[in-house]
Amino acid sequence: MAPLAWWQRGVIYQIVVPSFRDSNGDGLGDLAGIIEKLDYLRWLGVNGIWLTPFYRSPLEELGYDVADHCDVDRRFGTLADFDRLVEEAHGRDLRVLLDFVGNHTAAEHAWFKESRSSRDNPKRDWYLWRDAKRDGSPPNNWISVFGGSAWEWDATTRQFYLHTFLSTQPDLNWRNPQVAEAMHGTLRFWLDRGVDGFRLDAPSLMLKDQQFRDNPPNPSYKEGDLPDSKQIPRYTRNQPGLHFLIANLRATVDAAAPGSVLLGEFYLPFNELVTFYGRKRPELHLPLNLALTYTDWNADAIGKAIEAYQRSVPPNAWPTTTAETHDQSRLAMRTRGAQARVAAMLLLTQRGTPTIYYGEEIGMRGVPIPREQARDPQGRRTGRNRDPERTPMQWNAEQHAGFSSHEPWLPVESDLSSVNVAAQSADPKSLLSLHRALIALRAREPVLLVGAHVQLVRERPLLAYRREGDGRALMVLLNFGEEPRRCEVERGRAGHVVLSTFLDRVDEQTGDAIELRADEGVVVALD
Ligand code: GLC
Repeated sequence: MAPLAWWQRGVIYQIVVPSFRDSNGDGLGDLAGIIEKLDYLRWLGVNGIWLTPFYRSPLEELGYDVADHCDVDRRFGTLADFDRLVEEAHGRDLRVLLDFVGNHTAAEHAWFKESRSSRDNPKRDWYLWRDAKRDGSPPNNWISVFGGSAWEWDATTRQFYLHTFLSTQPDLNWRNPQVAEAMHGTLRFWLDRGVDGFRLDAPSLMLKDQQFRDNPPNPSYKEGDLPDSKQIPRYTRNQPGLHFLIANLRATVDAAAPGSVLLGEFYLPFNELVTFYGRKRPELHLPLNLALTYTDWNADAIGKAIEAYQRSVPPNAWPTTTAETHDQSRLAMRTRGAQARVAAMLLLTQRGTPTIYYGEEIGMRGVPIPREQARDPQGRRTGRNRDPERTPMQWNAEQHAGFSSHEPWLPVESDLSSVNVAAQSADPKSLLSLHRALIALRAREPVLLVGAHVQLVRERPLLAYRREGDGRALMVLLNFGEEPRRCEVERGRAGHVVLSTFLDRVDEQTGDAIELRADEGVVVALD
């Protein structure tokens, strides 16, 4: 087997830049704040960080409204700060990944200002402009993810432009080769500055139907789903040509900085997700597997999801698993808080690369924020508010959780007593210590990285699987329930506990079965 790349050996840690650490006391996180915390990340044991957008932006949508792809928003720092971040990270053997927002820009972007200035501007075709229907209504029935028509009327040039998200986030026209070239240029810009790869934001959307046909209604739409789920996205997502587009991005990245890594955000059934590794030409190294961010938290559903996923990944492709992101409720909100340890063990014993979302390692719950006070436009417009999972990182129990000296842009949790880095790093039995122990275990047990995944039990409340290879076998036994449970290990084979989620029981001998406490998980090595 080829030696493993850094992103196969380790764990990737997602940082929401505005919420990680504020170094200059304006209530908003920044690049210099991240530099302050690199030693922490090193100590935790992750080996790559992925940063949400910090580019120049009106920041209406967490920076996913980019006004200049090749500059740092002053509120986050400067290009010089960025260069220092890369240098300091690399000095600690930490790689740096950026968010590549390809589907849209901010309306404030110079490209869009030109594009909307007149119908014959050379950049007119860089965005998706269409005439109104005869009755003056939008060109078709497409719905914005945040609700309402995806088309916005421009009174000056008397046409509609397409915006899948906010009307201040116009969609780029990737069928125009100049757009593709300019966007590839932004990848090269950052690779030249030393970044180690990208996470592609919403790549499914980058191409639209050339005939702009109406989407059909979605009969399985449920109350509470995002507004665009009222339609089947037949003409707006995963269009023919998308694989070619992504393979081209990969080729640019490979040529500019061999060894870089590409991740991509998809919400797709596994059989479709895995096509984005690339069939004819290489595409993504890691099409993100986000199933655990929304699957019901019980042994049966989770067991099914990981088994189906592991089976779907083609033999030469590398799996990946994510349990929390900036778009879905935190685990501690979705599950009983006591399940955080089981979740950590599940995530960090998966075959392939796990990603950790900032604050997941200390069990941050987030803060419920009423719709009227939402900063997230999706929250204000649809009620599905993402602010709760984007609140400031809790570094200590002092004012503003050690995130800032100033009132932070989103509130911090009211009970900070134990959910903070300072308290948990001093406690050898904390959730944070468990994360460190699990990351360290992955580093010394190659069977956890590359060994086969063999599912054994998924009968509520128990989930058990075995990771095996090269003569080594580790059993992972997880109790999703609130009661103690006896769980079979392996008939007739002795074993011993390598790690319990409560960080005790080490070396305890096991027989045919082991008694799991409520909400406990254990890794057992078969002797
Ligand atoms: C991606 C991001 C999400 C954002 C959207 C639009 O889905 O993860 O946070 O709202 O793109 O940019």
